[in-house]
Amino acid sequence: SPASAPHGAGSGFVVVANRLPVDLQQLPDGTTRWKRSPGGLVTALEPVLRNNNGAWVGWAGVPDVDLDPIIEDGLELHPVPLTATEVADYYEGFSNGTLWPLYHDVIVRPEYRRHWWSAYVEVNRRFAEYTAKVAAEGATVWVQDYQLQLVPKMLRMLRPDVTIGFFLHIPFPPVELFMQMPWRTEIIEGLLGADLIGFHLPGGAQNFLYLAKRLAGQPTSRGTVGVRSKLGVVQVGFRTVRVGAFPISIASAELDEQSRRRSVRERAAQIRSELGNPKHILLGVDRLDYTKGIDIRLAALEELLREGRIDPADTVMVQLATPSRERVQSYIRMRGDIERQVGRINGEFARVGYPVVHYLHRPIPREELLAFFVAADAMLVTPLRDGMNLVAKEYVASHSGLNGALVLSEFTGAAAELRQAYLCNPHDLDSVKDAIMAALTDNADTRRRRMRALRRQVLAHDVDRWARAFLDALAQGQVAGSALLTD
Ligand code: ADP
Ligand code: F6P
Repeated sequence: SPASAPHGAGSGFVVVANRLPVDLQQLPDGTTRWKRSPGGLVTALEPVLRNNNGAWVGWAGVPDVDLDPIIEDGLELHPVPLTATEVADYYEGFSNGTLWPLYHDVIVRPEYRRHWWSAYVEVNRRFAEYTAKVAAEGATVWVQDYQLQLVPKMLRMLRPDVTIGFFLHIPFPPVELFMQMPWRTEIIEGLLGADLIGFHLPGGAQNFLYLAKRLAGQPTSRGTVGVRSKLGVVQVGFRTVRVGAFPISIASAELDEQSRRRSVRERAAQIRSELGNPKHILLGVDRLDYTKGIDIRLAALEELLREGRIDPADTVMVQLATPSRERVQSYIRMRGDIERQVGRINGEFARVGYPVVHYLHRPIPREELLAFFVAADAMLVTPLRDGMNLVAKEYVASHSGLNGALVLSEFTGAAAELRQAYLCNPHDLDSVKDAIMAALTDNADTRRRRMRALRRQVLAHDVDRWARAFLDALAQGQVAGSALLTD
């Protein structure tokens, strides 16, 4: 059962996310240890919580363990237990077999299974109950991402005193696609339990406003939603729910500083030499996910090699891929496809001791990852769809020397901000190939100018600014009340 807050006091600021910032690892010898959790959500929120003492409610990443709360550096971690069946039905099933593909433009066909939905409802209720126990009277609770869209409404019923924010870390889909969802009204009403609902882009907020009116029958504001400004409004009875766009970011200054360290520079030089001191190093860094377009950048490279536009004697590509959702069918299939592609390219173009594509299927420690960013001449970020993509921003933040180039898909949230990247359409292989070639062959001045502009954007808009913008809007909403309804 959920642990009660110590002495009934509870926490004034609570983050609720599917995962805790750390995963419990069970080692073969029976011992356990904690490891950083994968994904952009943790990258973004971890520094925010470090600066705001609070509590984090989430799953520890392994089934069938019931753990006591942990207090670490002033941060309380409250593990929510999931059974193996719930991991299969709520996490792998409804979250990653239904919602993830539906919200990412149905790149893979979403599966609508009734017992997955039941598990989603059940687990969302458990998260709401744990949170209700952890939050202090009048606390601010910030619910995260697509796995927990019913929590705002459930929590409001349990704890009408708390202020509830919700942020979606992935795209919110076009109305025509969302309407496929058999439980579409329940999801919209679940979200409407929040006081403020945040998306990365105004387009997502706009899609949501339309659906709130159509599916939940609530009056909504009409004006367009801005970035960190001009919030939309949904009137739910006496309550005013606000809807806005808050593009997420990274701890830019910290990364900038770390990437300048001598140890990182030296490791970057060593990586270059280990790769055979090629003229060009291309880099990909992703969770191994079909949304990321890893297959597309490999296909582009393969054609460029075949056409002789890239010389395998002077160019290498490094693809670092963190294992992800390894029991979901579409991920198993995609992994096989990508590994075959890597094998084919090396089979055709490598020399003994000099692969063209270096592929690592494992998480890389932060410091080592940073050295790869520094070493790379061009970063390839080619998703078919991505809510934001923090890797693109991390690469930019680690290029104080202005000597890198970012190839970036137009279908990422980051493309709305990083206009000076080498933008490409991942559905158009020629566009990807041309962007890669331009990134590698443009003169040094052009590359520096573009990187300088990108850095200005990323350094000025860091994750603290994101969190502040969201939390300020959430706090202001409590004061402004329904005066904001413009319709
Ligand atoms: P997503 O949230 O979909 O995983 P993002 O690009 O927003 O995508 O965030 C991914 C985060 O995970 C980044 O902080 C990135 O540095 C990290 N990451 C991705 N691939 C690896 C890897 N192979 N090793 C270590 N960290 C990785
Ligand atoms: O931001 C997208 C996101 O799905 C997060 O919600 C999630 O924690 C992360 O990527 C990694 O995915 P997973 O938790 O399924 O390993």
